[in-house]
Amino acid sequence: SRGSEFVVVANRLPVDRVAGEDGVPSWRRSPGGLVSAIAPVMRRREGTWVGWSGAADEELEPFDEDGMHLVPVRQSAEDVQLYYEGFSNATLWPLYHDVIAPPVYDRAMWDAYVRVNQRFADAVAKVAGKGAIVWVQDYQLQLVPQMLRELRPDLRIGFFLHIPFPPTELFMQLPWRRRILEGLLGADLVGFQLPGAAANFVRLCRQLLDAKTVKQDVVLDDRTVRARAFPISVDVDELRELIARPEVRRRAEEIREDLGGGTVLLGVDRLDYTKGITQRLQAFGELFSDGGLKPGEAVFAQIATPSRERVEQYQILRDQIEQQVGRINGEYGELGAPVIHYLHTSYDREELAALYLAADVMVVTPLRDGMNLVAKEYVACREDLHGALVLSEFAGAAPELRRGAFMVNPYDIDGLKETMLGAIHADRADQARRMRVMRKRVIEHDVDRWAQEFLSALEHTPEHVPA
Ligand code: UDP
Ligand code: G6P
Repeated sequence: SRGSEFVVVANRLPVDRVAGEDGVPSWRRSPGGLVSAIAPVMRRREGTWVGWSGAADEELEPFDEDGMHLVPVRQSAEDVQLYYEGFSNATLWPLYHDVIAPPVYDRAMWDAYVRVNQRFADAVAKVAGKGAIVWVQDYQLQLVPQMLRELRPDLRIGFFLHIPFPPTELFMQLPWRRRILEGLLGADLVGFQLPGAAANFVRLCRQLLDAKTVKQDVVLDDRTVRARAFPISVDVDELRELIARPEVRRRAEEIREDLGGGTVLLGVDRLDYTKGITQRLQAFGELFSDGGLKPGEAVFAQIATPSRERVEQYQILRDQIEQQVGRINGEYGELGAPVIHYLHTSYDREELAALYLAADVMVVTPLRDGMNLVAKEYVACREDLHGALVLSEFAGAAPELRRGAFMVNPYDIDGLKETMLGAIHADRADQARRMRVMRKRVIEHDVDRWAQEFLSALEHTPEHVPA
């Protein structure tokens, strides 16, 4: 065959291989915002998606799914541990999120990161057609652009980082900092969520590699690499279709009844220490002890999707949250009426849409977040202009939504309490005005526009000067 003209490569495939209760493996949608954003783009553009199945030691043939061609890349149990749980999620994830948890610097993990990035680059080099566009995704694959360029100088290579890129002082901690920058510079275009991240990257290239930079461009001997911001977004059409379904609306009503008729606050997050879940629950609990709220007046539904469960910091966090929920419910709940409904589970799109419609106040309080699609999904679902969004200043979505959201510093517990109360008591007119401002932004800048802007910037990068 001629090979694919458009290839996405991400650590994960859009579907995740899970062992069922009877031991028979099956597929389900992979967790996280990357898949929510990239899957609709790929479906519409009929590309090839190279990624890992989520299971160790599994040799799988390429297959088609939901309008996408999927090419699985195998990972051994050891690589899953050292590259995925290790360097990706115990080193890079905390380092890039303001070292909220202490990053682990381990040479064996780094070696695995190099090895696995090479395996992904080799896999892409095999399936990409001549002159194809290859779009490399996220922090797990930062060496792939350079490795791929070595193998296939004919390709046009884009890279997008879904998470924050850290301030220079923090990035400097990384023992392999130069190698990461050089890896990224293999791309023609390096995309970030926010302009500040692109600026951090360009500054580091100057400081650490002595590279020549002109504004947001890094000028190499034989070509120029562009660094730009492209804030990612949601599939507005998909959400519109979901909330129009009568069964979704009925389900939203049912959820509200089940929750007892008070004001419904909602949190939807992967169970991750970047999300500020403990801060928001602490603030909510204190509102009862202060008398700001009375039991029965408000309930909090917290969906905490299982994530990276073999990484120590995630286990610690889970214990912490479960203790905290138990304590608050023990203190303020009543028989049959807890004040926090905590669910350690993953929901499908329909149930999530129903939850968004059922929520009076959506609480999104990350300590640091690349974007946070949950915030934008909530806004996209509230065609009725009801509901309020409490949003952290440290979410990537903050600059776009700040004029309509109830903004908060999640480290400031008193501020969180006040802001949550403000959102609970906001009148309908204020809610509608705020929601309208946010909806305008999200509807105009949906995920299709994001992809279109990135890919057209990639197509318009200057042709390589042949060596
Ligand atoms: N999500 C989901 N089911 C759940 C919880 C979350 O499908 O039970 C989706 C959610 O709709 C969103 C994504 O997971 O599209 C989370 O993306 P976000 O950017 O908010 O955070 P991330 O998990 O990528 O850090
Ligand atoms: C975030 C990251 C993604 C990742 C997702 C889920 O959205 O940016 O790259 O896929 O979280 O995390 P997991 O470790 O389960 O892939």
